[in-house]
Amino acid sequence: MSKKIITGVKPTGSSMHLGNLMGAILPLKNVAEKNDAAIFIADLHAITSVKNADTLRDQSFELAVEYFSIFGIDSDVKIFRQSDIHDIPKLMWIIANVTPYSLMLRAHSFKDADAKELDINMWVFNYPILMAADIIGYGCDAVPVGKDQIQHLEMTRDIVRSFNKTYKKEIFIEPEAIVTEWLATLPGTDGRKMSKSYDNFIGVFDDEKTMKKRVMSIVTDSLWVDEIKDPDTCNVFALINVFWTPDEVENIRQKYLTPNIGFGYGHAKSVLLDILQRYLSGYRKARENLLKNPEIVEEKLRLGAIEMNKRLDAKMQEVREVVGVN
Ligand code: ADP
Ligand code: TRP
Repeated sequence: MSKKIITGVKPTGSSMHLGNLMGAILPLKNVAEKNDAAIFIADLHAITSVKNADTLRDQSFELAVEYFSIFGIDSDVKIFRQSDIHDIPKLMWIIANVTPYSLMLRAHSFKDADAKELDINMWVFNYPILMAADIIGYGCDAVPVGKDQIQHLEMTRDIVRSFNKTYKKEIFIEPEAIVTEWLATLPGTDGRKMSKSYDNFIGVFDDEKTMKKRVMSIVTDSLWVDEIKDPDTCNVFALINVFWTPDEVENIRQKYLTPNIGFGYGHAKSVLLDILQRYLSGYRKARENLLKNPEIVEEKLRLGAIEMNKRLDAKMQEVREVVGVN
């Protein structure tokens, strides 16, 4: 039976990199296409940190464009903006009344910010309740997330149990987290995990010049062109291995292992660059087309929001009934 899946992404302005693509977004696409799935741009969540209207609007739009580029503009997966859903704040208000303060104090997201002695605003603290509303309001049963979000899903289940117990009716379902265990962590240009925080990433939508610069900066040892090289410890080879066919990978492996054929790291990097350009070109073209036709993106977001508003409205009717508000 198909599941109702939802996930949210914060428009915080960081560009999607190859690690995100391979470790999170393509696995999500795979699951989403087999189920009844929705992805939203979590702009209400982003205002905890993004305080400029133009920046937030631009980042939200860019994120939507990137998702449509990867999922396809005609995908059945509903992509929408969180702030287009009218009753999310109301649902959040209602479920906050069955959320214990002691539960909230345990949230890592809040504790991390607190430990850094940041002057936390109320929404950093309340974040998990908004996230719970995002999920349970549409009756979703599965939520693909990164490991860092598992605790938020546990809190969501606590809130669901508390609500259903208080009102003696199974209004909400307890959602499960789907955590993709990718085979390996994609290495970045310095060999550590590819991550925006290490600035060692290759962006999915980088222009050609930037991508070339990034690929050429991949760290290798200093063996000469004609020396035998170890493919299994090489950062360039590790990326070729992920993005190319097994036969072609084997071909390159042999080149690493054969001396005196004039194949050095510079050549391997050119091969990788070529592979990446080809692998990503469809996504890039899709993005460029959508940027030229922003009204198509807005229309799809609008249709996504109509459907999700409908689903939330149905659930809110049940909620209002048991709670006693209008
Ligand atoms: P970053 O480390 O750049 O801050 P995020 O923590 O925002 O990345 O990652 C979002 C998701 O992308 C994670 O849940 C994880 O599944 C995936 N991801 C990020 N980096 C990698 C990587 N190097 N290899 C595989 N998956 C990754
Ligand atoms: N908290 C998630 C993150 O930081 C984003 C998010 C908000 C979310 N609401 C959600 C994810 C609901 C899944 C379901 O990545």
